[in-house]
Amino acid sequence: MGSISDEGKPHHAVLVPFPSQGHVNPMTKLAKVLHSKGFHITFVNTEFNHKRLLRSRGPNALHGLPDFRYVTIPDGLPPSDADATQHIPSLCYSTSHTCLAPFLELMASLKRSASAGLVPPVTCIVSDGGMTFSVKAANILGIPSVLFWTASSCGFVGYYQYGYLVDKGIVPLKDEGDVKNGYLETKVDWIPKIHNFRLRDIPSFIRTTDPQDIMLNYFIGEIENAHKASIVVINTFDDLEKSSLDYMSSVLSAPIYTVGPLPLLLRQTNNKNLSSIGSNLWKEDSSVLHWLHSQSPASVLYVNYGSVTTMSSHQLAEFAWGLATSNQPFLWVIRPDLVEGGSVVLSSDFKKETEGRGMIASWCSQEDVLNHPAVGGFLTHCGWNSTVESVCAGKPVVCWPFFAEQQTNCRYACVEWGIGVEVGPVVEREEVRRLVVEVMEGKLMREKALEWKRKAEEATKDRVVEAILNIKPPPAA
Ligand code: UDX
Repeated sequence: MGSISDEGKPHHAVLVPFPSQGHVNPMTKLAKVLHSKGFHITFVNTEFNHKRLLRSRGPNALHGLPDFRYVTIPDGLPPSDADATQHIPSLCYSTSHTCLAPFLELMASLKRSASAGLVPPVTCIVSDGGMTFSVKAANILGIPSVLFWTASSCGFVGYYQYGYLVDKGIVPLKDEGDVKNGYLETKVDWIPKIHNFRLRDIPSFIRTTDPQDIMLNYFIGEIENAHKASIVVINTFDDLEKSSLDYMSSVLSAPIYTVGPLPLLLRQTNNKNLSSIGSNLWKEDSSVLHWLHSQSPASVLYVNYGSVTTMSSHQLAEFAWGLATSNQPFLWVIRPDLVEGGSVVLSSDFKKETEGRGMIASWCSQEDVLNHPAVGGFLTHCGWNSTVESVCAGKPVVCWPFFAEQQTNCRYACVEWGIGVEVGPVVEREEVRRLVVEVMEGKLMREKALEWKRKAEEATKDRVVEAILNIKPPPAA
């Protein structure tokens, strides 16, 4: 395997992540893996995220290296300086409707730079599964494209059903009440090899009564475009999602590759030159690690709902009292924008009750936390990165899925992999307490989690790089 193209120059990959934390993280990891194999990297941030990364990581963070460059395109939304996560439906709508033209301009400018000998010619475009305008661009330009599906394979299988569900009149729902009245318990029994699925295990954007719903239609479009990529790479490993991967292979014409557990793969490449390149949009609080050093092994429950989840102040209070009455030490990461329409307020009674036993922070280096020996379990929203990072760290999970394919990931964690338990959508303190104790004290789930960690380690390989090196350009448009 080499990293030199047919023209005798280094391979040059242009990577296009969807501009939210859960996508920028795995795309950055993949970029680093490719760079360590000799690829020249152009990493495409939206202007908004570029500014946020500069704020969270310092003014020099995005200078990159001569062969790892950042460029920007607009996301199509009005300019904003706010640090909070952008509104995901608006972002999906605007990127899918406005980014193709600026991206083509960017590609034209890279071509000019290549002609002037400033960068190697672009040899492939790596498009996030949610930025498939860049697959279209690749086809227009005759450049090979890699569709990088940063979420789970089971999530893809769920999204893949959207078109069928609409055709059959199952979705949109007839009535808002369908979400509560048991309709979501309807069996989904038409997907080969996927058993015991219910509508509620399908990614949550089917929970709409609006045929024009932005997310429903966005995913129908993005999944359709997945068929146009030269190859599909998935952020998972074979053992973890075998049946979903088999299903994907049966419905997509492009060859499918699993990238393996990206956190472990990246650790294996160990490229010190890239240590300054990070992707956290929030500033990390390093004091959490000092606090963890002072805790006993496997004693701390880590609580984090990722970068997008929000909740009501009532739900926050129920979580708080569930944690307080569990009597477990906990590290609770609460983003400033976690509570809908208001600031985060924890009562003085709660603070008194948990004094010396609980640490609260606003953002942390999650992989370091999950791999810390003091952490014994993870209360998570089941975002795919959090799920994979937990599997790689061998930690069992208490799941509270919020939206998207988190419901699907949750079902797999609890039913297929045996490493988790689910908190119902209506959060109740007694249930939180009971499930936290079950995960922190249960032996079976801990053993299962360690077994999956071993499988993740065994699955770590970099054959995906070889696949990317060998893809052929699409037929001329
Ligand atoms: C979103 C969707 O919610 C998720 O379902 C989809 O799979 C990917 O995009 P998000 O909700 O942010 O992502 O969750 P997740 O996928 O878990 O990604 C969060 C990332 O931020 C993880 O890589 C995690 O390590 C990192 N993180 C989070 C931190 O580094 N520190 C924190 O304090 C919180």
